[in-house]
Amino acid sequence: MRQLHCDVVVIGAGATGLTIATDLEKAGLSTIVVEARDRVGGRLRTETVEGAVLELGGQWVSPDQAGLIATLDELGLETFERYRDGDSVYVDAAGSAVRFTGDLFPTAVETQNEIERLIALLSALTDEVDPAAPWEHPRAAALDAQSFQAWLEEQSADAEARANVALFIAEAMITKPAHAFSVLQALLMAASAGGFQHLVDADYILDKRVVGGLQRVPLALADRLGDRVYLGQPARRIRWTDSDVTVTTDGLEVHARRVVVAVPPNLYGRIAYEPALPASRQQAHQHISLGLVIKVHAVYATPFWRAAGLSGTAFSPFQIVHEAYDNSGHGEATGTLVGFVASETADAMLALPAAERRERILASLATYYGPEAEDPVVYFESDWVSEEWTGGAYAASFDLGGLARFGAVLREPVGPISFASSDLAAEGYQHVDGAIRIGHETATRIAGELQD
Ligand code: FDA
Repeated sequence: MRQLHCDVVVIGAGATGLTIATDLEKAGLSTIVVEARDRVGGRLRTETVEGAVLELGGQWVSPDQAGLIATLDELGLETFERYRDGDSVYVDAAGSAVRFTGDLFPTAVETQNEIERLIALLSALTDEVDPAAPWEHPRAAALDAQSFQAWLEEQSADAEARANVALFIAEAMITKPAHAFSVLQALLMAASAGGFQHLVDADYILDKRVVGGLQRVPLALADRLGDRVYLGQPARRIRWTDSDVTVTTDGLEVHARRVVVAVPPNLYGRIAYEPALPASRQQAHQHISLGLVIKVHAVYATPFWRAAGLSGTAFSPFQIVHEAYDNSGHGEATGTLVGFVASETADAMLALPAAERRERILASLATYYGPEAEDPVVYFESDWVSEEWTGGAYAASFDLGGLARFGAVLREPVGPISFASSDLAAEGYQHVDGAIRIGHETATRIAGELQD
């Protein structure tokens, strides 16, 4: 076993871990990053599949994501706007495709009014929630005891309005059924994105992409860190006292003053802790889990929908693919659609043989864009749930009651062990922006402690 020594060992070379190591090095502290996979980036991965450059994981940048934007600027990475000219498409419960512009889905007027009323209610509630401490809301316990679905049913008798408002948070963000997470969890999601209205406005939340792919961020950070990053080294064990730690991987024993576990919370239990973590932590870690979404990429010889006056933006709470977008690469002649299949629909799709799943998913895309969508040149499904070192997508959320009960505990360090990832972030929660923000915060705190 190779012995290594540093001030801080970071477990996980995702956006969070690499931001932490970068900041600590800048503060004059020595770091080592151990990464389980043979690549950096975690949930960021830009890959060439059958000649098509695809963003398999995170990709979009929105204007409020100041943490991510500052990193992009510092690394000199360029962005480009998502294609959005033309009409969007909404598919109703009967399976009819209707063109529309703007944010409001083209439902019956009464349903539109109901959607607007629910969004106004949720916007007002969101404004009351501090994303850094949602558990401090005066009604936190009550809001965390009720499922988002139950709240919607209490507010509105209009099933289509409920399904559409649920879509913004359940399928599109938390990627769990609306009965599986609380109102408080939904409000945290919206508050962390700067308001509920931002989640409704796809042009805002899915505004820009990085030329060459968002994985360029972790790749560039890792490049600067050089030989401090060790790939193919899953952390198996953390032995700790009040003042030091030893992290054991398959080939390394790293001795340090602090460790940061920068992996998604569902993987905390894959590491053995000696001594064991306190009781409250062991409980907390069992109440937070990743959602499930399949990101589907379909590449065509041309972006044929543009010629038909379509932007590529499409939504339906009734379709297998609940949302889809023009995801063509920068300056590419080919056209790429990206579609998302989430939560219980994803369960049903993953239970099918691959060929049948592909057929059903492409048929769903065809409902939005016409029969040409059924015949892509390249078809690929990003299946993060099958990845040992992730286990779901996009990120982690608490079960009912978990956020009020354990949210604050989860962000506390345990002796020399800190935990950080986009799943624990306040602003930018579940996003790369949150990974970078919590990365900076964690590094600043640790540097302050070690330099005292
Ligand atoms: P991340 O999971 O990326 O990194 C953790 C690292 O730890 C991984 O590299 C993993 O291999 C490693 N690891 C795990 N266990 C280990 C162990 N025991 N030892 C060593 N290493 C270990 N966000 C956004 O802003 N815009 C978007 O468009 C999207 N879209 C999107 C789509 C899809 C399909 C996914 C899956 C995710 C997104 N996201 C997103 C979310 C975004 O990608 C995510 O929030 C961040 O990349 C998470 O970064 P972290 O570093 O916190 O965790």
